[in-house]
Amino acid sequence: MALFVPLASGILLLLCLTVPSLACTCAPPHPQMAFCSSDLVIRAKFMGTVEVNQTTLYKRYEIKMTKMFKGFNTLGDAADIQFVYTPAMESVCGYFHQSQNRSEEFLIAGQLWNGHLHITTCSFVAPWNSLSPAQRRGFTKLYAAGCEECTVFPCSSIPCKLQSDTHCLWTDQLLTGSDKGLQSRHLACLPRKPGMCTWQSLRLRTA
Ligand SMILES: *[C@@H]1O[C@H](CO)[C@@H](O)[C@H](O)[C@H]1NC(C)=O
Ligand SMILES: *[C@@H]1O[C@H](CO)[C@@H](O)[C@H](O)[C@H]1NC(C)=O
Repeated sequence: MALFVPLASGILLLLCLTVPSLACTCAPPHPQMAFCSSDLVIRAKFMGTVEVNQTTLYKRYEIKMTKMFKGFNTLGDAADIQFVYTPAMESVCGYFHQSQNRSEEFLIAGQLWNGHLHITTCSFVAPWNSLSPAQRRGFTKLYAAGCEECTVFPCSSIPCKLQSDTHCLWTDQLLTGSDKGLQSRHLACLPRKPGMCTWQSLRLRTA
């Protein structure tokens, strides 16, 4: 018995320390990848109410959608999204909204399941004001142009090799200092000519 107690508590401690972090580790995506891999991309305000469904263990945040950037094809032009769903517990990647500010607009990129917008901690959710002008232009219009043909290909350790002419090597993870995040903040991987994609600046592009 004396042996069991420390052993059991040791195992419990280990579980507590590892499960939450293992369950929800996700590298932040390039915003274009987030746009392209999401069913639904909107701009919305969080209205402050959260309800937990004890049966499904999902919670839903009430939101007020101000703009839809992606999802018309499935939902139609008149669609209004009133809730965003996420697992109730953070240990299974439930998103926790921190801001109390109901006037603050957020970019939310998520998946559509049974007509509902779903997100997790791994989803791209960011205050609209925190996005660079290029990223706003990307979400509004320009990222879409790269979704069909082009792939942002993450390079996390040297050497990286381009595997296809339609890939753009994403090296933000290797950079430090002021260069870090450059490709995320200013560039999109877009078709240059048929069968070829390159990083292109969104700073001056308007269409
Ligand atoms: C919880 O979800 C189930 C299954 O979707 C639904 O039938 C039920 O009405 C929900 N309960 C509440 C309180 O919303
Ligand atoms: C809430 O958000 C709005 C819009 O982003 C901003 O203008 C305002 O200063 C914020 N209020 C507070 C209390 O942070």
